[in-house]
Amino acid sequence: MGARWAGGGRAAFGVAFGRSLLENRGLVKMTTQTLRALKGQRPIVCVTAYDTPMAQCADAAGVDLMLVGDSVGNNVLGFANTVPVTLDMMVHHAAAVARAKPEALLVADLPFGDAHLKPGDVVKSCRRLVQEGGVEAVKIEGGAAIAPLIERLVRAGIPVMGHIGLQPQQVNVLGGYRKFGQRVPEADALRADAEALDQAGVFAIVVELMDPRLAAELSRSISVPIIGIGSGPECDGQILVAHDILGINEHAPSFAKAYANLHETMRAAFAAYAGEVRGKIYPAAAAKSAVSVSAGK
Ligand code: KIV
Repeated sequence: MGARWAGGGRAAFGVAFGRSLLENRGLVKMTTQTLRALKGQRPIVCVTAYDTPMAQCADAAGVDLMLVGDSVGNNVLGFANTVPVTLDMMVHHAAAVARAKPEALLVADLPFGDAHLKPGDVVKSCRRLVQEGGVEAVKIEGGAAIAPLIERLVRAGIPVMGHIGLQPQQVNVLGGYRKFGQRVPEADALRADAEALDQAGVFAIVVELMDPRLAAELSRSISVPIIGIGSGPECDGQILVAHDILGINEHAPSFAKAYANLHETMRAAFAAYAGEVRGKIYPAAAAKSAVSVSAGK
């Protein structure tokens, strides 16, 4: 989307953080390499996106990484969790986000089950996300056990982002969501997972619902950026679900912060429209009512 969207958000970036290439990425397409280089420079900003307009808005705000998360399942498609999301659904939503031509690095989730296919078939799934979905990298849930697979994908030219701590695709094994890494054996296993992923060549690792002390430790010890979600403030970057940031979801996780209340804004807009149609005000006074809605009145 580039310069067309490079107004307020990126200009403000420049003023706030100085003018270095990495700090003000307004004219720079983010790559896995420039993202990696941000480690230790400034916090990395990541969000999910599932469609073109949302991706345009997030990119205009200057986010560094956009994830077409399999959380599209519970945020957009009405599923209870990410398990029912298929590769076809991921390709469909990835392609919609890619049409926004974001300057942010574009990553898509490999959906439930696909990482456990035969390695050649995993490469095929990732190829679909890259070639048909238009993303530049894939995110895969899993630790040391999938390190050989990640090496193979990277060799095939597919950059991989790791994801440890809570792995939502495991929800039916876990029986729910919980915090990870609070006990010594689990923390040790997570350290080993992060090191194995780092060695295998991931360009970043998402740590979800991880004990903040462990997430901070990994941010110091692992060579690639550690991107936290519900894992405390001392990660190299943060990721949140767009619908939680925007207040579209009525119920958000406790660690999330809503910066708008679009749920209420959308409800009020639909109610205003319904009222005007029933009151025979719209379409006759269409221009006037459109202004009052967009002004939030
Ligand atoms: O699918 C998703 O939205 C995610 C992030 C929240 C990390 O995996």
